[in-house]
Amino acid sequence: MTEALITPVVFNPYDYDFHDDPYPTYKRLREESPIYHNPDIGFWALSRHGDVADAFKDNRRLSSANGVSLDPAAYGPHAHLVMSFLAMDDPRHMRLRQLVSRGFTPRRVAELEGRILELTDQYLEPALAAGEFDWIAEVAGRLPMDVISELIGVPAPDRAELRRMADLVVHREDGVQDVPQAAVESSISLMGYYRAMIAERRRSATEDLTSALLEAEIDGDRLSDEEILGFMFLMVVAGNETTTKLLGNALYWGSRNPGQVAPVLADPNRAPDWVEETLRYDTSSQIVARTTAEDLEYYGQTVPAGEKMLLLIGSANRDSEVFEDADEFQIGRNSTNKLASFGGGVHFCLGAHLARLEANIALAEFARKVTDFEVDESGIERVHSTNVRGFAALPVKVQVR
Ligand code: HEM
Repeated sequence: MTEALITPVVFNPYDYDFHDDPYPTYKRLREESPIYHNPDIGFWALSRHGDVADAFKDNRRLSSANGVSLDPAAYGPHAHLVMSFLAMDDPRHMRLRQLVSRGFTPRRVAELEGRILELTDQYLEPALAAGEFDWIAEVAGRLPMDVISELIGVPAPDRAELRRMADLVVHREDGVQDVPQAAVESSISLMGYYRAMIAERRRSATEDLTSALLEAEIDGDRLSDEEILGFMFLMVVAGNETTTKLLGNALYWGSRNPGQVAPVLADPNRAPDWVEETLRYDTSSQIVARTTAEDLEYYGQTVPAGEKMLLLIGSANRDSEVFEDADEFQIGRNSTNKLASFGGGVHFCLGAHLARLEANIALAEFARKVTDFEVDESGIERVHSTNVRGFAALPVKVQVR
């Protein structure tokens, strides 16, 4: 008798056992319940690669305008500002995305390469000298926010404080679904800081992204200060923790698969392959939500209009219909164009190239400097979230070259 005949699959995105290892549940969902309904929590879910990819493209029938997180209160009273165009439908979304893209160009991101390298070395040097350190506290938790600060022109002395505030904005207490007071207060402080910065750049322009956003124009249309502020917050919310967790997950799975990571330690130019496989095998943004704009049919079931639909990115990336030996961590697969990790369609992650640049550089630098490493699994702390997957602490022991 199969397991399915004994107990129907139960999927609860708040369950800590699920967070420990979501992949067996995803597998059962794909096989037994490709359209899954949880009436108690109040959501539906798509788990197969093809369905998730199609859903990302169908932004007309699957709306982002009611938020893209399972928790409606994810960012409290400022949710509308914090999520900016991520939580809008076209044409509002497209207008903002196009204007922002005038400033946030691939060229501007590529120009950051040297600075990302310097920052990585600056964090790695004392950490590697110690021989044992927390990868999240020393490296992975610092780089993404400092790069965002660099990009928008935050002066170096202010960056540590901004990182502290940003951490509090996205921080969630385990098991608590309400937004903590500290998160609300930090978002108000961060907002005040960014507002003042925008006003200053209006008075005198510089070379940073903030000035570029102020100047961005399409047919006479420009971004308002409030819209620029919204985008800055969106970067903090969408581009900070996700990249930190990607860096953590890479080290964790690298440590668990030493045979896979050895060729990268021998040839650091292969770091991008390590990054791509981590993005597939255990990506940091696991679940995004949509709201059905009309009745939809999936596998003979009708999902009524107005329902929450979860797109299970982490499951799509393990679909054996698309990835051979999907449950094995194999660096060098060449599966980049099939990854669901950065979404798809009109909301495809605007920071995908920046996230990859940061991770490629940080892991290549790490590989250049160590001959071997091991994560101390007794000291790891996992973050419990319905979306982000990764670690709050990841102690690592290294052998330096
Ligand atoms: C959107 C993942 C890093 C900025 C998205 C979406 C995903 C995603 C899945 C689509 C959400 C949806 O369709 O509802 C990730 C992952 C990252 C990462 C896994 C790191 C590993 C970044 C970075 C930035 C960024 C570094 C910028 C600094 C954005 C923005 C959007 C977005 C602005 C909204 C795009 C739109 O709505 O048109 N990201 N992201 N992300 N991401 Fe990322």
